[in-house]
Amino acid sequence: MRWITLLLIPAMYAQEPAQVGRGRKIYFESEAQGTRCGNCHLLEKKGTPVGPDLSRLALLNPRAIKMAVMSTATQYVLQAKLKSGPTMPVMKASEEGAEVKLFDLSTNPPQAKTVAKADIDKMEPNATWKHPPESAKLSSEQLADVIAFIRFASNGDKRPVKPEDVE
Ligand code: HEC
Repeated sequence: MRWITLLLIPAMYAQEPAQVGRGRKIYFESEAQGTRCGNCHLLEKKGTPVGPDLSRLALLNPRAIKMAVMSTATQYVLQAKLKSGPTMPVMKASEEGAEVKLFDLSTNPPQAKTVAKADIDKMEPNATWKHPPESAKLSSEQLADVIAFIRFASNGDKRPVKPEDVE
């Protein structure tokens, strides 16, 4: 049985559409940090889990995924004001005892930080955060490639995504 599996694995990769490979490259290796989705979203067990898990969205229409990237409406990002100083856009990772682990989104890649609950003055919805400006500069071809990769990595979906699907 095992040798069959070993033969099948390379065959599966060989069948990966070229578009998926291009999308993966943008997702993890894009030259502009702002379009390197993997800085903030896990996929294929790689990347940093700052933002939401995108595999949940893989079944959405490509245009809906585009809107989520370009949107200025945030659902999860918070604005944290610390007594010891800075106010920063954050994504909360976990809470344990007297501490909160979070990602500080004032830099990209975001920085993982541990903050004492006692040091938090305010933590409220953040209405101004949006994806880095470079993400709005992705061409329709590039965005279609990224979405093809998100679908493939999430569901093994090999259907092509056409640039006109995200225009
Ligand atoms: C600097 C970090 C960062 C980068 C880089 C980034 N994202 Fe995000 N993304 C986030 C955060 C944070 C959110 C949650 C925003 C909110 O509060 O609604 C998010 C939300 C999303 C959502 C909506 C998720 C949902 O559940 O509603 C999609 C889709 C998405 N990102 C796709 C992408 C894609 C595609 C790329 C690459 C082109 C990308 N992101 C790059 C941080 C990032």
